[in-house]
Amino acid sequence: MTHIALFASGNGSNAENIVRYFSGNRNISVSLIVSNRRDAYVHERARQLGVKSLTFSRVEFEDGLAVTDVLRVCGVDFIVLAGFLLKVSQPLLDAFPGRIINIHPALLPKFGGKGMYGDRVHRAVVDAGENESGITVHYVDGQYDGGEIIFQATCEVLPEDSPEEVARKVHVLEYAFFPKVIEKVIAEGRRSD
Ligand code: GAR
Repeated sequence: MTHIALFASGNGSNAENIVRYFSGNRNISVSLIVSNRRDAYVHERARQLGVKSLTFSRVEFEDGLAVTDVLRVCGVDFIVLAGFLLKVSQPLLDAFPGRIINIHPALLPKFGGKGMYGDRVHRAVVDAGENESGITVHYVDGQYDGGEIIFQATCEVLPEDSPEEVARKVHVLEYAFFPKVIEKVIAEGRRSD
């Protein structure tokens, strides 16, 4: 059994979708939701879903020790960033080598980097007059939105689309593909262990 920790900073709709996807799965379970914000709506979702959720401060995420200890105690062996807005620190990367993945709401390497998250990304896509956007799932390294790309899916952006409409299209892709990509990455990792 692979135990996932989901890291989320805000609303947590992807986190909820992932928890629901893996409920009843014999190989993968979501053991914990971790946030950097005590008031994030993801905690309410976690409560309703019956999943433990915890908050750590920015300093604790940077230091990594307390977070790593809790993840170990909870038996976590894989981390999924689902709308998590802090950079993952080196101690955490070292504790989970090749076992942290992220979703970004655009087609990296475009529209990534520090400060590019959530609605800001969709606004930048519209402002740039792009005719497509999408999602990128990638391994996490020490850079914002760096790391090897695992999967991308695209959606059309029409000239009249608002950032909110692009966000809606991107969320549809996220809900459809992200859990399946997580499942595949974990299954392939298990085969090569
Ligand atoms: C998602 O669209 C995710 O791709 C994005 O934040 C949103 C969170 O929504 N992540 C980033 O921008 C990371 N750079 P949610 O909280 O409803 O899942």
